[in-house]
Amino acid sequence: MQNIYKDLESQDLLPKKGTHIRVMCDYLLTKDNPVILEFGVERGGSTRAFAKLIDKITGKLYSVDINDCSDVCNSVNWRFLQSDDLDIDYVSKNFEEIKNSGVDLIYIDSYHENFHVQKLLEIYFKYVKKNGAIFIDDIDSFPFRQKKDIWNSIVYDLTDYSVKEFYYNNINKASYRIYYDEGENGLGKIIKKTEFNDEPNLTKKIWNYNIIIKLFYPYLRKIKKFFSRT
Ligand SMILES: C[S@@+](CC[C@H](N)C(=O)[O-])C[C@H]1O[C@@H](n2cnc3c(N)ncnc32)[C@H](O)[C@@H]1O
Repeated sequence: MQNIYKDLESQDLLPKKGTHIRVMCDYLLTKDNPVILEFGVERGGSTRAFAKLIDKITGKLYSVDINDCSDVCNSVNWRFLQSDDLDIDYVSKNFEEIKNSGVDLIYIDSYHENFHVQKLLEIYFKYVKKNGAIFIDDIDSFPFRQKKDIWNSIVYDLTDYSVKEFYYNNINKASYRIYYDEGENGLGKIIKKTEFNDEPNLTKKIWNYNIIIKLFYPYLRKIKKFFSRT
């Protein structure tokens, strides 16, 4: 493995260490002929990084974007589809490999709203192979909180919460971790423990306490302490 890294780094085929794209490329290097499904292409930053690697190690990259991004990459191992990524019928009709044999890595970087990300997880979890992963970009609000950007802080926190909710509902089928690298906005990684075609559990609301009670917690704690002494 060390030699592969040296070889790829010397040819500039791996993204910079400590970046999210590098985390995903490192993951791809643990797979034979990896199949990637990417949601959100835009100017092709992640697309070209994936393509560069799979052109070397062999693999396939399928990308979906609601806008036409067909000219961002010229790899023969890349296929692009202009579509809403929630349209699973259209996506699987065009990318048959996804429904026939599954994918090793899904990268979610399209519409950054909690309800959208949660739907993507519910729809596409089934198509991930055993030990394959779903990476979710932009789930840590810290960079926005530093800028006192309330709107985006809420959007990122809600997304973070919805990914965790999906995971808690599927704790018997997946494991989860988050990468908090400097200069990045948080990357979630759900690893599927069950076989390709296994459906996720239904996402039910996980009980949580009322956030207003949290504000009163320091006072409630004092009251509790007082009574436990008397
Ligand atoms: C953050 S950008 C993607 C950036 C890209 N992954 C990169 O690293 O350079 C988000 C993209 O998602 C696309 N998008 C937004 N909603 C979408 C949807 N419902 N289905 C597919 N793509 C969508 C937008 O058109 C935009 O190009």
